[in-house]
Amino acid sequence: MKPVLSVASECAPLIKTGGLADVAGALPAAMATQGWDMRTLIPGYPAVISQSGRGRVVMEEDDLFGGPARIRAVIADGLKLLILEAPHLFDRGGGPYNDPSGRDWPDNPARFAALSWMGARIGAEGVGRWMPRIVHAHDWQAGLVPLYLSQRGDDRPSSILTIHNMAFLGMAPANLRAALRLPESGFTQDGYEFWNQISALKAGLVWADHITTVSPSYARELLTQEYGAGLDGLMRARAANLSGILNGIDLEAWNPATDPHIETYKSPGGKRRAKAALRAEFELDEADGPLCVVVSRLSDQKGLDILLDALPALVDRGGQLALLGSGDKGLETRFRQAANAHPNIAVHIGYDEAKSHRMIAGADAILVPSRFEPCGLTQLYGLRYGAVPIVAYTGGLIDTVIPATPMGLRTGVATGLQFHPVTSHALAGALIDAVTLYKRPGTWAALQKNGMRQQVGWEASAPDYAALYEELSPD
Ligand code: ADP
Ligand code: GLC
Repeated sequence: MKPVLSVASECAPLIKTGGLADVAGALPAAMATQGWDMRTLIPGYPAVISQSGRGRVVMEEDDLFGGPARIRAVIADGLKLLILEAPHLFDRGGGPYNDPSGRDWPDNPARFAALSWMGARIGAEGVGRWMPRIVHAHDWQAGLVPLYLSQRGDDRPSSILTIHNMAFLGMAPANLRAALRLPESGFTQDGYEFWNQISALKAGLVWADHITTVSPSYARELLTQEYGAGLDGLMRARAANLSGILNGIDLEAWNPATDPHIETYKSPGGKRRAKAALRAEFELDEADGPLCVVVSRLSDQKGLDILLDALPALVDRGGQLALLGSGDKGLETRFRQAANAHPNIAVHIGYDEAKSHRMIAGADAILVPSRFEPCGLTQLYGLRYGAVPIVAYTGGLIDTVIPATPMGLRTGVATGLQFHPVTSHALAGALIDAVTLYKRPGTWAALQKNGMRQQVGWEASAPDYAALYEELSPD
């Protein structure tokens, strides 16, 4: 097995705020099928430490940005983890990035510079006889890995930065340069400087040997002003070293035939009971339109304000909505109000893994109206569970759903609905189409069956990553 180090700020099932955790948690098993031995460096948040065993200390650092630190190697949930124990940075309440009241920790630049610093050190020195051939860093939190690695001489592994979300640039005030151990010479327009500040993501985009993102369509979008977050010029300059590799999902955790959270089923017809249970759970009556669900962070990215405006098109035609999500307080309030105002709308504000399984299992359709979406995972869960995805035409949602156009339907390949542009008007149109298609049972069942047959695991993407790793680390 060839060694590869992955560096991420979250990793399912130990610590998760979004899809990054799912991907970081699934990649090691996916890459093992390709002969790669992936170990994952993650911060020692309290939740991570309490869920993993003692393992053994494999590296120590006297002063890691203000305190002592060590790396503990453990195996937890089948994952080979390298846990960065640095109590002055990670032993606190709240979430991975926020204090208990939801505000970003003020020392986030140092916390994730520390993660990146140790990623580079393990990359350069290895642990014991395990010497990574590739260091694979994820998002801005690991964005400084390639830069730190480049300072460690030529005899070093190649680096890859994967962009899961270009909207988070990892900004820090310019005067932290020395504290973050960044080379003065790199504070330029061609380096890690961005609008006279430090951008950890930009540093990664400049210094990584290769950049990937989580779908081919998002890779193309990143070259444009609309999606490039001000870095589209840099992305165009690096286009030869940029690839889009689609995320997969964990086919064991998300399997309608064995899922411990639901009464299991194997075919679209089997979801009847799951749907009845979901209606009961959300206190929704019987209705003759489709039962649609949303499982999502409530943030501007996800376009749920667009959905609020389009909802009458669904519920006035006998359709229903059950939503699970949390985040933006304004959106939480608006969804609660919508639920109070209409018997066909039910909302649960919160984060609940088990409930998310029950919802996707019981749903006729899953809605993902995102303004932008690097890949998106919930539409993939929907496909696997016979919940037809109704998605915006953007990013990974383009690449994972085959739209029910007249030709898509006639040739029998369609798996969902796409709408464009990303407006409430266009979404309302898609919801009206969905109600119509739903009422033609043969057609709807065909969409479900096609979706349940679609490849949504890592079968195709693991070889793509493996080919990239090989190319970057020739024997
Ligand atoms: P993002 O990473 O942008 O949030 P993804 O679709 O890639 O979007 O991944 C989101 C992940 O988080 C999925 O696994 C989804 O099921 C999960 N998720 C989001 N919100 C909730 C919630 N409120 N409760 C349970 N799971 C959630
Ligand atoms: C990000 C993106 C999402 C993607 C996930 C995993 O959070 O918003 O689209 O699926 O990362 O790559």
